[in-house]
Amino acid sequence: MVAVDDYGAMLDQFTLMSRRWAIKNVVVTVPLDPKSDDEVVQVYARAITPRTKLLLVSHQINITGHVLPVRQICDLAHAHGVPVVVDGAHAFAQLDLRIPDLSCDYYGASLHKWLGAPLGAGLLCVRKDRIAPLWPLFGDLGVPNDDIRKLNHTGTHPAHTDLAILDAIEFHEQIGIQRKEARLRWLQPYRTTWTTRLRGRRNLDFHTHLAVPGSSGPASADSFGANGWAAVSSASLVEVPAVEHPGRTAGVRGGIWRSLNRTSLCRRVLQRSPFHPVGTHPELSGSI
Ligand SMILES: Cc1ncc(COP(=O)(O)O)c(C=O)c1O
Repeated sequence: MVAVDDYGAMLDQFTLMSRRWAIKNVVVTVPLDPKSDDEVVQVYARAITPRTKLLLVSHQINITGHVLPVRQICDLAHAHGVPVVVDGAHAFAQLDLRIPDLSCDYYGASLHKWLGAPLGAGLLCVRKDRIAPLWPLFGDLGVPNDDIRKLNHTGTHPAHTDLAILDAIEFHEQIGIQRKEARLRWLQPYRTTWTTRLRGRRNLDFHTHLAVPGSSGPASADSFGANGWAAVSSASLVEVPAVEHPGRTAGVRGGIWRSLNRTSLCRRVLQRSPFHPVGTHPELSGSI
């Protein structure tokens, strides 16, 4: 089971497996404006059947910044005997979390995102009793079958990437995860304000939910119809490059370094509007 909101490469992997093994992927849709975390959990609950073998859940959806109630989803899945893979690419080193608290079976994260390690560094955490039955694509027979290192045969490996992880961790700890998260949450009101100013425009369709306090990701993306993409990337106001999504969606993420100039951001988004040629948009003549 996967969600349409999961990361494209993750979904591709499930599609690949379904083509190869005739597995059926059940695809749920995470609600954009849930009234509560339970509403999200219920989406997964309704889709689980006795035939469900594996559940993938994004800890933080990359397009909307929505932090999902992973612990509750894991508890639900386990009650049905279903193991859970958590995609923590964005949550790791952004949220103050402890992986064992999530009670998941597998947790994967990129270390080059919020930890700031070099590209190519990642993390895989597998529950101890899940290691032995796992067959890696590239195995390492030099360690016991239930040793996590058997999953990490990488061939000739760039040592500089690994060495730099230690510096990244040190820097991350110097800032402190609580301060990092607090800074990113501090940016949220700004995010809300600038999107409030633009919500309702017919050419901009905002996807970030604001309803569940605390569960919208601290640095989270504000995503909207495609025309914001170039606007935001050239504005480089909000830090972290905007992401382009196949569904003609652009995302804006907060970052810990820069401040948010929302007036300029609003102007640039509106300037890209397909319905109003640059210079003629009514919003641009007044204050935004
Ligand atoms: C939710 C999510 N999962 C997985 C990935 C892939 O991570 P990587 O860039 O380390 O391949 C990303 C990258 O943006 C992501 O946002």
